[in-house]
Amino acid sequence: AEPLKVGVAGLGTVGASVVRILQQKAEQIAARAGRPVVVTAVSARDKGRSRGLDLSNVAWHMDPSQLARARDVDLVVELIGGAEGPARACVETALGAGRPVVTANKALLAKHGVALALAAEGAGVTIAFEAAVAGGIPIVKTLREGLTGNNVSRVFGILNGTCNYILTRMEKDRIGFAECLADAQRLGYAEADPTFDIGGFDAAHKLALLAALAFGVQVDPDGIYIEGIASITPFDLAMAEELGFRVKLLGVATQSESGIELRVHPSMLPKDSAIARVDGVTNAVEIDGDVVGALVLAGPGAGGDATASAVIADIVDIARGAKLPVFGVPAAELTAPKRAPMGTH
Ligand code: HSE
Repeated sequence: AEPLKVGVAGLGTVGASVVRILQQKAEQIAARAGRPVVVTAVSARDKGRSRGLDLSNVAWHMDPSQLARARDVDLVVELIGGAEGPARACVETALGAGRPVVTANKALLAKHGVALALAAEGAGVTIAFEAAVAGGIPIVKTLREGLTGNNVSRVFGILNGTCNYILTRMEKDRIGFAECLADAQRLGYAEADPTFDIGGFDAAHKLALLAALAFGVQVDPDGIYIEGIASITPFDLAMAEELGFRVKLLGVATQSESGIELRVHPSMLPKDSAIARVDGVTNAVEIDGDVVGALVLAGPGAGGDATASAVIADIVDIARGAKLPVFGVPAAELTAPKRAPMGTH
C-alpha cells in the first residue's frame, strides 16, 4: 500500500519522541495502519541541535507553513504550541491544502477549535487532538467514540501534570514551589511558558475541549472560572493532610438544567478518594454517564513519550482512513454553551 507521508512541525520534547517512535516501531505501526507511515519532513528552528534522531532522509523546512504545503507531505503533525503565530498558520495552511492534521495544541484548539473543525470538515479531512488533553490518556476517543450511548452530566479531574507533580513533591518531599517547578521543566512536563500550567490556563484549555466532546457544545474557554496553584505552600498541604484531605488542581465541567458550569481551581479532596490518590505527573479524569455510570481513567498526563503515544494513535487512525467529526458531531451542529451561574453545582 501507498505510504502515509508525515510532516512533523516542532521538534521539542514531544516532536522528537514522535519521530523516534515512528522510526523505531515502523514495522508494527505499518501493520496496524495497513500501510507504512514515514516521516518525510520536519520543521524546527534550530537545525544544529542534537536530538538523537536520524533525519538524514527527511526534508527540513525552516517555516512550518512551508512544511504544511510541501509536496512530500500527506499529513501534518503540529507540535509547535501556542494559540497564534506559526502553529496556527501551519494548521490553517494544512487544512487549506486539504491535508489532515494531528496536534497536541490545546491552546490553539481552545481558542479556534470550532473554526478549525469547520475548515477541516469542509475540506473532508480531520484535525485529531488526542494528545491535547491529558497527555497519554485516550480521553478524546473515550468521550467521542466510547460513550455515544450516554448523556454525560460531569467530567472532572486532574488535567495538568506539571501542577500535580509540583503539589505531590511539595507535599511528600517538603520542597518549595520554585524548585518543584524547575524539576517539572527539566523533565519536559511544563509548557514553554509555565504560567500556563501553574496559573490553571492549560487545564482550562483542556476542560473547554472536554466540555465540547462531552456536551456537544462549541469550544469556549471564556467564562471558565480559573484559579491556579501559585499561592499554595507546603504548609497548606500539611494542614490539609492533617484534616484528612489532599489538595489537587481540578478541572470540573458539569451540565444540568441550569446550564454548563466550567471551573479550574485547587480543591480539597478526601484522602482516600480515587482522584486524591493520584500522584506525580499522572492525570486522572472521571466521567459520569447516565448509562455506564462513573468511569475513571488515569495515566501519564505530560512528557514526551506519553504524549507521543496519543499523537501516534491519531496518525494511525488517519492512515486507516478514519474521518470522524472533530468533536463527535459535525462542527456546524455544536450548540452555543448556556452557562450556569457559578456555584450551581
Ligand atoms: N504542560 C502540560 C502538563 C503538558 O503539565 O500537563 C500536557 O498538556
